[in-house]
Amino acid sequence: MYATEFLDLPPLETAAGEVTLPGSKSISNRVLLLAALSEGTTAVHDLLDSDDTRVMLDALVQLGCGVRRGGPGQVEIDGLGGQPPAVSARLFLGNAGTAMRPLTAALAVLGGDFVLEGVPRMHERPIGDLVDALRALGCSIGYLGNQGYPPLSIGRPTLKLGAPIPVRGDVSSQFLTALLMALPLVAVERAIVIEVQGELISRPYIEITLNLLRRFGITVEREGWSRFTIPAGSRYRSPGKLHVEADASSASYFIALGAMAATDRPLVIRGLGEDSIQGDIRFVDAARQMGALVEGGANRMTIRRGAWPLKAIDIDCNHIPDAAMTLATMALFADGPSTLRNIASWRVKETDRIAAMAIESRKLGATVEEGPDWLRIHPLPAGQWRAARIHTYDDHRVAMCFSLAAFNPDGLPVRIEDPKCVAKTFPDYFETLFSVAGTPAASIPVLCIDGPTASGKGTVAAAVAARLGYHFLDSGAMYRVTALAATRAGLAIAAEQEPAIAALARTLPVRFADGRVFIGHDDVTDAIRTEEAGMNASRVSALPSVRDALVALQLGFRRLPGLVADGRDMGTVIFPQAPLKIFLTASAQTRAERRYKQLIAKGIEARIVDLRAGLEARDLRDSSRPVAPLKPAPDALLLDNSTATIEQSVAEVIGWWQARQPFPA
Ligand code: DC
Repeated sequence: MYATEFLDLPPLETAAGEVTLPGSKSISNRVLLLAALSEGTTAVHDLLDSDDTRVMLDALVQLGCGVRRGGPGQVEIDGLGGQPPAVSARLFLGNAGTAMRPLTAALAVLGGDFVLEGVPRMHERPIGDLVDALRALGCSIGYLGNQGYPPLSIGRPTLKLGAPIPVRGDVSSQFLTALLMALPLVAVERAIVIEVQGELISRPYIEITLNLLRRFGITVEREGWSRFTIPAGSRYRSPGKLHVEADASSASYFIALGAMAATDRPLVIRGLGEDSIQGDIRFVDAARQMGALVEGGANRMTIRRGAWPLKAIDIDCNHIPDAAMTLATMALFADGPSTLRNIASWRVKETDRIAAMAIESRKLGATVEEGPDWLRIHPLPAGQWRAARIHTYDDHRVAMCFSLAAFNPDGLPVRIEDPKCVAKTFPDYFETLFSVAGTPAASIPVLCIDGPTASGKGTVAAAVAARLGYHFLDSGAMYRVTALAATRAGLAIAAEQEPAIAALARTLPVRFADGRVFIGHDDVTDAIRTEEAGMNASRVSALPSVRDALVALQLGFRRLPGLVADGRDMGTVIFPQAPLKIFLTASAQTRAERRYKQLIAKGIEARIVDLRAGLEARDLRDSSRPVAPLKPAPDALLLDNSTATIEQSVAEVIGWWQARQPFPA
């Protein structure tokens, strides 16, 4: 997950390969609650691991369910089996509507002493119609903040189950889902009827609910979309084991990607087929209308680019409310204006999504019209795109939708602010995108930070990489590892061994993971950091064929979304076209003192004079060697950090980087 302040997506061109998508949010949270309300234990597989499922799981634990987490996506729930939950609890439900609504209903009919609350945005998302329906039933629910909105308090009900229960269907289908999941708990002696008032929106989500209720032993009778009967004698029973399908809304970004950017090789999505029980799977039809070539299989889909530009679309999106947002960004690449209709529910989602899509698309240069329940997006021709910072409103879908703008024909980057908001449903969204997206290496930004030993470049470069969400290349480690491997192989580090050491360097099984350095399985992080290892590295690095042997390895670090590389020749030899080069120095005395402090901290004895002599000798060798000597690239910016803290140097580098980006201030 990218927990950075922003993530800059370089211009992207192609998409091909396979992706495995996280489990469906709607299915995951329904399954968790149903398992909790059932008799018996349910083993859930491929559960979505995200903010929304985490708050649900935490709530279930607080309510007294046994919850055992297994490997990724696996969790076992011991159901309460009709037993009352913990009698009092204060549940924090984040911004998860799929937790807030059904838990409100279930706890309200079971009764107790509960508080249900969430993030500030959750307290702006309406719940009044559900509360009205529950109150009519005899539930005791109070508003702790604004009338009609969470946070809520829940007490003990005096249930009146005789008359049909009315609920509005035109604000959020989650109200009906909540009642459908809660009422089987009390439909013991007699059947309970729910009557939907107003046009029911988002029907496919109700189908998911009914489908899952069946899996847990409850068959609801439905007359059209207005009357639902929960049979007498209802009792939740665990199906034992349950698989969660991949999320169809999450799939929409990759279907779009395939439609816009697949090459001769298609984009393949695993874990989801066209027979999915999720309504958003019908996004496939809309994507096909726009030109995508989609082949559905069992549990997989293959997507290719068909019509290009995409074909404009005019569509009622009621049946695919979440996935339809993806159509809005696809529409930027269409052959005419596209209209998305019947999307009033967007206004009460994680943010006002109609407004968000309009405002952010306009930042890209697009013309967008909006109405109370519709959006019209005009295509954005080549030459008219603008580099934009996309505000994401703590809405995962806004972030994911606008990542598609990186495929603009004008070769512009796109800045996604607060990229971690995707964690709501798809924590590894960007990693997954980068695993299939392609762009010429020259489009992937590289920041080079070169300089002498102990100048702090490694620390500064790693911190800059972390701030930008970029990869980090410590090129010195490659020379250190080579020298260590050579020594271990019994080779003298000298010119006569050059061919042997170069051969070793070419096939070196070096691996960088979690800040550690490995040769094969051997963790050599500490072994390569000694003074002696540094001096040996300096010696091997003067051998031209060793340098050649390590070039491909270093170039391989230039991967999406970008790279910060530190060394001696990053800016001069390895990445001469890099858009930002920095030469980081500090006085020899300062560097010797810094090194001294590091060694003392590790309990290694040293003398500053010796260290200074050592690093001056190393600088001299590194800068006087004939190949790739240590020197600033002609276009490098000099940064002397003798009197600066690491944080100040990092801020300086980030400032220079920002100043070179095309985003408006
Ligand atoms: O940055 P460092 O101290 O880990 O580097 C160890 C040695 O490796 C350094 O003295 C010279 C060599 N080196 C190099 O020649 N080119 C690089 N890009 C990085 C390091």
